[in-house]
Amino acid sequence: MTTGPRPLLADDIPQLLALGQEAFGAFPAGYTLPGPADYPAPGRHTWGTFDGDRLVAKVVRREYDSWFHGTQVPTNGIAGVAVSAEHRGAGLLDDLMAAVLDEGKRERGEAISTLFATAPGIYRRYGFELVTSYDTVEITTSRLAAVKPPESTTTRRATADDFGAVRRVYKTWASAQNGPLTRAGASFPADADEFIGSFTGVTLALAGDDVVGYASWNRGSGYGDTSTFEVADLVTLTGDATRALWRMIATFASVTGRVHLSTSGRDSARLALPFAGWQVVESEPYMLRIHDVPGAFTGLRLASPGVAVDGLAFGVEGDLLDTMNGHWSLSVDGGVSTCAAGPVGGPTFAPRGLSLLYAGAASCADLRMAGLLSGVQDRDRVWDSLFGGRQVHVRDYF
Ligand SMILES: CC(C)(COP(=O)(O)OP(=O)(O)OC[C@H]1O[C@@H](n2cnc3c(N)ncnc32)[C@H](O)[C@@H]1OP(=O)(O)O)[C@@H](O)C(=O)NCCC(=O)NCCS
Repeated sequence: MTTGPRPLLADDIPQLLALGQEAFGAFPAGYTLPGPADYPAPGRHTWGTFDGDRLVAKVVRREYDSWFHGTQVPTNGIAGVAVSAEHRGAGLLDDLMAAVLDEGKRERGEAISTLFATAPGIYRRYGFELVTSYDTVEITTSRLAAVKPPESTTTRRATADDFGAVRRVYKTWASAQNGPLTRAGASFPADADEFIGSFTGVTLALAGDDVVGYASWNRGSGYGDTSTFEVADLVTLTGDATRALWRMIATFASVTGRVHLSTSGRDSARLALPFAGWQVVESEPYMLRIHDVPGAFTGLRLASPGVAVDGLAFGVEGDLLDTMNGHWSLSVDGGVSTCAAGPVGGPTFAPRGLSLLYAGAASCADLRMAGLLSGVQDRDRVWDSLFGGRQVHVRDYF
């Protein structure tokens, strides 16, 4: 007989760590274990289910905000999901997921939830679907010398004083995509020295005095063909800035044979490469669920300011957690959306279909062929044009 779910307390830390290690392996050497004094960590909420006194299932909720359709959407980042070996297959996750998602909605209006899945099959039952992945790509460093030189962009090393400019560049890029975290709020302490100190270098791309791109990088150890130059972020606002930063990285060819770039989706940085070598060597699949339909679909910049759409009806069926099911109506006024309960009508989305639509990760035609959208088709092109057009990205693992 199990009890809970309930929020875990400082007294539960030993069991929390033990269940985490059972699922994900021993902590890396040098990892600082959390103690009662710093529990809970900012922006982190952990829930668990017990069998007697024993913690047998846990889920962590992390406070994030993501950019979707030009708006910051409060996001429930699910992490650290584990069920003890002997309790798997008993459905313990159902109540835990419901509790954690509801807490996020209640406390911060977290209308959507995202996670990195070890296996997508675990989360599909809750309406999560794959919308992108956080990838590491490998590039042979010497090939970067073939990137065309920038016309006028220069580079220089960033200092802590440039932290604001780096954040502005990231925000300009991220706000034009669907999916990237805002990197603001409780889960992202804003400390310029810590930021600069966590990389070998942060290189700025400058157009005159304006920062129009940056690369944050770690040199790694050793030198030679098997040494790897790690690029955490390569974020640029102009093609010239992209070329300037690739050319800076190319100068490491004699000491680091390869470059690993953390990236996602269709990265515009690739558009500056004249060669095909862009090999994905690691990929972390990223899933999305809509938890609060009106909350998630209100305030989105879905169209140009002059565009208006009145009462686009749709339904959602099949949400196990029963927060999305029902009939809804989406309107767009001045390019900005509102969504509320509506009359019966329009097409019907499966929860996973709604996730894909929201992210702009699938067209209505593809949703229909996947069995995630059914019913009237006459407005499919309207849905596609409202929700398509932005690239899907994520640049932070959690
Ligand atoms: C993943 C884990 C939490 C699932 O717990 P569980 O009690 O076994 O879950 P359930 O048996 O209730 O299964 C829930 C759903 O996940 C699916 N699932 C479970 N393990 C899966 C796997 N390895 N691959 C694909 N799907 C899986 C089940 O088929 C079920 O989906 P369905 O109802 O649509 O068929 C548990 O197996 C675990 O702790 N594994 C190790 C840690 C881990 O991988 N955590 C996930 C981190 S993202």
